[in-house]
Amino acid sequence: MSWKAKPSATMSIPRRAEPYCTAEMKARWEREVLPKYAVKHGALMPILHDIQHAYRHIPYQAMVEVAAFLGIKPADVLDTATFYEEYSLEPRGRCVIGVCQSIACEACGHTKIVDRVRERLGIEPHETTPDGAFTLLTLECLGSCDTAPVALFNETLHEKLTVETVDRLIDEATKPGGAASANGHGSH
Ligand code: FES
Repeated sequence: MSWKAKPSATMSIPRRAEPYCTAEMKARWEREVLPKYAVKHGALMPILHDIQHAYRHIPYQAMVEVAAFLGIKPADVLDTATFYEEYSLEPRGRCVIGVCQSIACEACGHTKIVDRVRERLGIEPHETTPDGAFTLLTLECLGSCDTAPVALFNETLHEKLTVETVDRLIDEATKPGGAASANGHGSH
């Protein structure tokens, strides 16, 4: 494992005029998220989840905005956003395929599943297709070891996967209106 140095002190943050944390998002966080936590900092992960869901990644400007909203340091937001696999600093595909690679799934043939996705989409784990349709991830245990091998297609868990099921799910996601299509709903 190698550690990546974060050039926090010298990097310039790309900015856009329109905020990522919209007034509507902030109102919802105030109403539905903050009351669940004793301290504002506790709401960081669900808020980052919303940002990831809305923009398919966590832009740097959004981290600064979230930090201001929660009254914490941008560095703390960056630490959380870079620690958890759920979050990505680079835009992910409209359909994110997350294949479990932990021990039960490994024993039940997760390699065949990953290889099928690689073949079908021409990408390696942690890459996104050039058209922004799919991202392939390999993830740690998804908590469904008794139905291995499993994978997430966006938020939906698919169990006891076979190569045929993977083909079907990719075909469905690619159809007009499917999760990976440009006019899809972003879930599967
Ligand atoms: S090892 Fe894959 S779900 Fe637990």
